[in-house]
Amino acid sequence: MGHQIADLISSLIRSKMSNTNGPSLLRLGVIVTLAGVISLGVVFFWFSPSNKCPPPVFRPVQYSQISSAKTNNSLTDKAEEKPVLLLWVWPENYRFDFSDCKTFYNIDSCQLTDDRALYNSADNVIVYHRAITDLSNLPPSPRPPFQRWIWLHLESPTNTKRIPGLENLFNLTLSYRQDADIPVRMRLITRKKPNEDFVIPKKDKLVCWIVSNKDPSTGVDTRNVFYREFSKYIQVTLFGKAFSRFLGYDDYYPTMASCKFYLAFENSIHKDYITEKLNGPLAAGTVPVVLGPLRRNYESFVPAESFIHVDDFPDPKSLAEYLLQLDKDEDAYRKYFNWRKHLTPSPHLILQRQEFILAICTACDYIARRREYKEAHDLYDWYFS
Ligand SMILES: *[C@@H]1O[C@H](CO)[C@@H](O)[C@H](O)[C@H]1NC(C)=O
Ligand SMILES: *[C@@H]1O[C@H](CO)[C@@H](O)[C@H](O)[C@H]1NC(C)=O
Repeated sequence: MGHQIADLISSLIRSKMSNTNGPSLLRLGVIVTLAGVISLGVVFFWFSPSNKCPPPVFRPVQYSQISSAKTNNSLTDKAEEKPVLLLWVWPENYRFDFSDCKTFYNIDSCQLTDDRALYNSADNVIVYHRAITDLSNLPPSPRPPFQRWIWLHLESPTNTKRIPGLENLFNLTLSYRQDADIPVRMRLITRKKPNEDFVIPKKDKLVCWIVSNKDPSTGVDTRNVFYREFSKYIQVTLFGKAFSRFLGYDDYYPTMASCKFYLAFENSIHKDYITEKLNGPLAAGTVPVVLGPLRRNYESFVPAESFIHVDDFPDPKSLAEYLLQLDKDEDAYRKYFNWRKHLTPSPHLILQRQEFILAICTACDYIARRREYKEAHDLYDWYFS
């Protein structure tokens, strides 16, 4: 605290020095600033609670602080109310700034940290499934009695390793699954007033597909088989690592927007496993052609008439014929965008290192609202069922 004020004063002096308007004006400025900062500091010391640090170790103390915060006596008490969310490891080592939750999703309701020294006071701990090698790199036991462990995993069952011993260890699940305790998903936003101004972006390509992964072990066989047949009947423009045609991050949305249709083919087929592959084309102003779970599963997240499902057709050839026909029928094509009057898609973050921001911020939002006791049993029975 003392450090911070001293730093503030010296940085203020430095910044005053660097834009001199005349020596006397400068001196006056420094004096006024110093006086202001010092009195602010005094006021702050007098009115801030004395129990700022070290962090409390035993939870009941914090709960009593929460009830005293209800008297609204200071802003710092409000901050103390925020539950601590400890990120045990950075998923895939993709680090980001914790303030991104506020920046991107306006979520600011927990205190995120990656500092394991706060373990004993952490209300919740996120454990990333893929980083668990065996039980030895989990957080230590016994855990504080108030603490909840959150299982973070975004891959589908096809791409999930069963690590024995995790079945009855967690309190909350954080996953793409709708029946997870904390489901993670980009959602369309309902508009208050209908939007009549949406303009379909200019198109110079018919069907596009960005693919980074061709590895059959990840479950991509279904989509590869479908694609091989489909591409006999219609021109598809390919991008991505799998075809050595890399697309820069800045080109992702503009490229997608320039295609009439986009192949939103999931790598493996599981209920609710509907990823950013669908959100991308919707956000860009393109019609997604989806391959994944059943149509009605998609319809629980996005309007029925916002996408084309490969299951709507008896075979890849009929799908190709339908797209070619839509290409010539502007009015029929335009109908795929009617939903935009009432719903707005939001572009998702596309940098690789941003992959887990939405999930972690969603957890932050959840734990501040829902603080009850919870146990998640038979993790794999649930996940693989
Ligand atoms: C504290 O402030 C909130 C809104 O800022 C208000 O709704 C609440 O009634 C206040 N509580 C007390 C005890 O004054
Ligand atoms: C969290 O789950 C574990 C394992 O089921 C359980 O022992 C613990 O009491 C739970 N804690 C809370 C705070 O929900």
